[in-house]
Amino acid sequence: MAKSNRPLRPKHLHKEQSEAETKGTAHYSKNIYWTILMTYRPFLGQIGLCLFLGIFGRALLLANTNIIGFWVDSLVGKSTPLNQMSSVQIVELLLTMTLVGFSMTLIFRVGFSRLSAKAISNFYDEVTLRTSRLPMGFFDTTPAGRIITRFSSDYGNIFRLFGGPLAEFISIIFDLIMMVVLIGIANPIYLIFVFFIGLVNLLVYRLNRDHLRKVRRDLSASRSPSIAHFAETTQGASTIRSFRRQDSFIERFEDLDRYYLGQKLYTTREIIGFSFQMNSMSSLLLLITGVAAYFMVEKNWASIGSVGVAFSFIALSGNTVQMFFEWLTQFEEAMIGVERLDHYLRMDIEKGNKLPSTAHFQTGHPVYESDAERKLSQQRLTEDANASVEIKNLWFRYREDLPWVLKNLNLEIKAGERLGIVGRTGSGKSSLIQALFYLYPIEKGEISIHGHHPQINGDDAGAIDLNLYRKAMAFISQDPILFRGSLRFNLDVENVFSDEKLRAVLQQVGLWDWVDTQALKLNMPIEENGKNLSLGERQLLCMARCLLQQSPIVIMDEATSSVDPKSEEILVRATEEFFAHRTQIIIAHRLSTLAKCDRILWLQNGEIFELGPTDEVLPRFKKAELV
Ligand SMILES: Nc1ncnc2c1ncn2[C@@H]1O[C@H](COP(=O)(O)OP(=O)(O)OP(=O)(O)O)[C@@H](O)[C@H]1O
Ligand SMILES: [Mg+2]
Repeated sequence: MAKSNRPLRPKHLHKEQSEAETKGTAHYSKNIYWTILMTYRPFLGQIGLCLFLGIFGRALLLANTNIIGFWVDSLVGKSTPLNQMSSVQIVELLLTMTLVGFSMTLIFRVGFSRLSAKAISNFYDEVTLRTSRLPMGFFDTTPAGRIITRFSSDYGNIFRLFGGPLAEFISIIFDLIMMVVLIGIANPIYLIFVFFIGLVNLLVYRLNRDHLRKVRRDLSASRSPSIAHFAETTQGASTIRSFRRQDSFIERFEDLDRYYLGQKLYTTREIIGFSFQMNSMSSLLLLITGVAAYFMVEKNWASIGSVGVAFSFIALSGNTVQMFFEWLTQFEEAMIGVERLDHYLRMDIEKGNKLPSTAHFQTGHPVYESDAERKLSQQRLTEDANASVEIKNLWFRYREDLPWVLKNLNLEIKAGERLGIVGRTGSGKSSLIQALFYLYPIEKGEISIHGHHPQINGDDAGAIDLNLYRKAMAFISQDPILFRGSLRFNLDVENVFSDEKLRAVLQQVGLWDWVDTQALKLNMPIEENGKNLSLGERQLLCMARCLLQQSPIVIMDEATSSVDPKSEEILVRATEEFFAHRTQIIIAHRLSTLAKCDRILWLQNGEIFELGPTDEVLPRFKKAELV
């Protein structure tokens, strides 16, 4: 078959980028059949019942043709099982069979589609549970567009096909089975023709299968670069506009999109070619069957009724067999989606983390027991208002192939202490925070809070649960993160605090007077990233959220030195008022913010350059910065 005109990789898509998506052969990995079994397992009983009704319903509907065949034969005087029945009785029988068959088919189609949709949404949940617990390195190295494509376009394909057309596909299989049985009852000689129709279509399918799989996989992969580019462009819209680079971004998008559309056209062309081959073969076989039927009646080898029945079934089966293979290729597309999500389902999750007890697929990942999970949600690392932090011989890097970012750090932050961290850009300040949370694997050294370090490798008797450990720290980045939803949702995602409690923290950070003037008060809407709030309001809301958490350790990272005076004032108030008794770790570029700290840690190239009382270290750092 023609394999020319395949779209060329666009100049904006690097070879590695396009290949990372399409790697793999024309065959699926064995895992995905197991995954599909896991997906449907909770519904197997109900699905079995639906399938039974489905096949019985199709049998009743199709058997009408046999009854009509017998009727025709009995009218021309042959002996048939219907000889004893009057015409009215036969019509009644036909009507009853149609009605019952139709109802059963309907129950099967609706019931099965519903169950299948439920099963598939479970699959989605299970993949989400695991993806949200993948190591940070995965998110660093995987473009967001690729993840979004898998969870939107690939999942959309799976849901669309498994949620409805799968029932249709199974109906087709039932039809084929029933046709073979019913043709056998009418006139077994015709089974030879059915066999040939099936064989020829299978051959055409086998010849096309690998190529079509590959084409579909390429199509699927060609989508994510343009989506990723689109997402990046909307996020960076203001920067692109200020640098007047709209045209190059549009050109890049057009280039990537043209590639996707080219793949789409190419795929459609290949699929139409495949249908054409099947159509031609089926028509040819039908012609041969018709001519053969004529001679069989002529030679008296078969009755008119039985030939009529067999011929109508064969005409129908040619079509049905073809539909079967066309659907099969449609399902290939959904299977590619399953395969791509299945890849996320099986990746190793972050070391030390576990899946929640609601995860049911046995993928070999550690899972919380529901009792332990419930206990843990109520547990705290310490009931004290503050906690100490011990860092011992800490070496930290983001990945094994990257250089060390923190080198042999040793320090202890006392409970209730206020520690300021300074250092040139890139000196490792934010990385120390990542390490404190164990967001990346710590290969050498150890960090503990209140004398506890987290359980990472599973064989450490003195260690505590990673999530319990993390709960002891609250992190406020100076780039406040807010979500679309109500103010209440942003403060209290899990919906556990009373209105009074929320009001009290808002009063504490000085926001209540403002909230009180809003028509919807706590239910006022917050736009994406808090766009409808000022930066100061956003920061104060994040402080309020942090206060609700009551973590003994509060970490603040002032991302850049260009924050406005209002933000600095909020940071100072936070350290002195809101979190007065907590242990505080503050990264600040504006040194005035750190004046009230107990001690200053000065980092240089990932090493402790100085650590000591604020009034000693801060002036020296200031002086060094001025040089
Ligand atoms: N996710 C990451 N993956 C790989 N390397 C990283 C990552 N984040 C930071 N780095 C590298 O780690 C080093 C330290 O970065 P870090 O963000 O800790 O600096 P910083 O002291 O917080 O700087 P700034 O004052 O600019 O915020 C830098 O060389 C940086 O390139
Ligand atoms: Mg930083």
